[in-house]
Amino acid sequence: MSGHEFQSFFPDSGEVDMTDTSTSIDEATMAELRDLAGRYPQARSALLPMLHLVQSVDGRISPAGIEACADVLGISTAQVSGVATFYTMYRRRPGGKHHVGVCTTALCAVMGGDTLLEKVSAKLGIEPDETTADGTFSLERIECNAACDFAPVMMVNWEFMDNMTPAKADKLIDDLAAGKDVSSTRGAKITSWREAERVLAGFTDGRADEGPSAGEASLLGKSIADANGWAAPKPEDAK
Ligand code: FES
Repeated sequence: MSGHEFQSFFPDSGEVDMTDTSTSIDEATMAELRDLAGRYPQARSALLPMLHLVQSVDGRISPAGIEACADVLGISTAQVSGVATFYTMYRRRPGGKHHVGVCTTALCAVMGGDTLLEKVSAKLGIEPDETTADGTFSLERIECNAACDFAPVMMVNWEFMDNMTPAKADKLIDDLAAGKDVSSTRGAKITSWREAERVLAGFTDGRADEGPSAGEASLLGKSIADANGWAAPKPEDAK
């Protein structure tokens, strides 16, 4: 082996677990799936949010969820599972109450992301793509979350935890495990992965404006430009 082979971090992600037939999808869920399908000119465009709704209800992409999406959209279960297994945000196994991601892509890696992942993994007693026995935490090695100016970055239920250190991660996990109120470093209150999935499905929780939409580090260049009266040249002035 050359040593330069691309290493996949999803080598064992596998298929949806068809042996776990448990589901909490009921008539109310079916009505919400139909609601989502009705929001698009072409109903099939709703498949991604519909799968997020399935996750919010069943804690994973369940066989019943695949069938429900296929029924509502009039497509095959193979077409639904093909989509569900393509994207890493769709889980094939149950996630935890809190889904913790640690970024180890280039800039976060340089800033200690791999060490952070090791520490969090040891603290939780699970490897990436596993869930703790009590169902409180699941862990994922994540790719760049477009927050490189706050590296190294962790996510909890897809909320940003910026400029993390092993000590901060340790306290964060302790606080979440103890059920204490925890907020993202950008302000949003941490609820649960399933609640976040419901928001991703398109059912707002009224908290979209908690915290700034962009952090200070991301806006630094703009604020320097503003202070100096700098502006991008107009296209018509470009020679
Ligand atoms: S490399 Fe981690 S957020 Fe970009």
